Amino acid sequence: MNILGIETSCDDTSVAIIECCFGEVNQILSSVVSSQIKLHAPFGGVVPNLAARAHLENIKPVFNQALIKANNPKIDLIAVTIGPGLIPSLLVGVNFAKALAYNLNKPIIGINHLEGHLYANWVKECGRLSLPHHVGGLASHISQTFPALCLIVSGGHTQLILMKDHGQYQLLGETRDDAAGEAFDKVAKLLGLGYPGGPIISKRAESGNPDALNLPRPMLNSNDFDFSFSGLKTAVRYEIKKEKKLTNKYINDMAASFEQAVVDVLISKTIKAAKDYNVKSVMISGGVAANKKLREEMTKRVKKELSGIELRIPDISFCTDNAAMIATVGCYKKDIKGDWQKIEASANLRLVA
Ligand code: KG4
Ligand code: ZN
Repeated sequence: MNILGIETSCDDTSVAIIECCFGEVNQILSSVVSSQIKLHAPFGGVVPNLAARAHLENIKPVFNQALIKANNPKIDLIAVTIGPGLIPSLLVGVNFAKALAYNLNKPIIGINHLEGHLYANWVKECGRLSLPHHVGGLASHISQTFPALCLIVSGGHTQLILMKDHGQYQLLGETRDDAAGEAFDKVAKLLGLGYPGGPIISKRAESGNPDALNLPRPMLNSNDFDFSFSGLKTAVRYEIKKEKKLTNKYINDMAASFEQAVVDVLISKTIKAAKDYNVKSVMISGGVAANKKLREEMTKRVKKELSGIELRIPDISFCTDNAAMIATVGCYKKDIKGDWQKIEASANLRLVA
């Protein structure tokens, strides 16, 4: 069966088509992402109404391109992000998907964006990991994957989730203030590096010394799995204030020191949770999972401290927002499909209550 995914929750307009065969080969037939970075960069962040207008302009051409790339396949199910996200942005994708479902007379399913990020870890192999029987509409199977610990690190969220099986989640901890990606974006702004901050900080950090500045590791030793990044951002602001001039060397050193502080906290908490909950696999996802240092250090530390545990990290292109991950969730929930009239966007939709 072919699933068409639609994602417009923030500033990426994306449409993807995946072939989903339970127990058989699964492949991405097309995945098109149109980024609005250039549009929002002058404002230092996403402007919701501009984002919605750009989604409106882009959705049809992106949809057409996805169809052409996939060779105009038959579509069996439409999967669309319904939240969390910016309402003006979400509404464009949701209304487009509903109109499509009505016109083509196809079933439609509303997908939680965070669940999409989790399933970026299955984008390329969801066929391989499924078994032919379903429980409660979800594909279930016996494998070494579950229980899995998933670290979601994006621009809007930082959560540690225990995934007991497909579709079964327990929230272990989350950020009490800023998300990890948000902290990257704010620190980049303080350093005058532009938007989005993550990729620029990561690039500058490559030429900097991660030990140059002594920054805090907030909540590193707290007795829970929550995070906090706003104090770290404030510490960066105070450090910067002390400098007369932000030289290139200083910016590189600050970028490296900040990145190291974030990565240290994210990895230590993930490793501790993996041990406490005796998981079989660890996964990371979301835009910050594209960070090279996080990917490399997580790989090293899981190997060293969690022997025998599988680590999954999506391809970089599936860490930031994309519709292939949304269609992939649809692959696992294909039996829970609804009527187009019942699909609604929800800005604050939660994955786990
Ligand atoms: O998942 P995503 O595309 O959108 C949300 O759902 O929020 O994540 C975007 C976030 C931004 O804050 C961006 O700065 C961050 O991911 N990001 C990175 C990197 N690439 C994107 N953060 C650190 N290092 C990167 N290489
Ligand atoms: Zn996202």
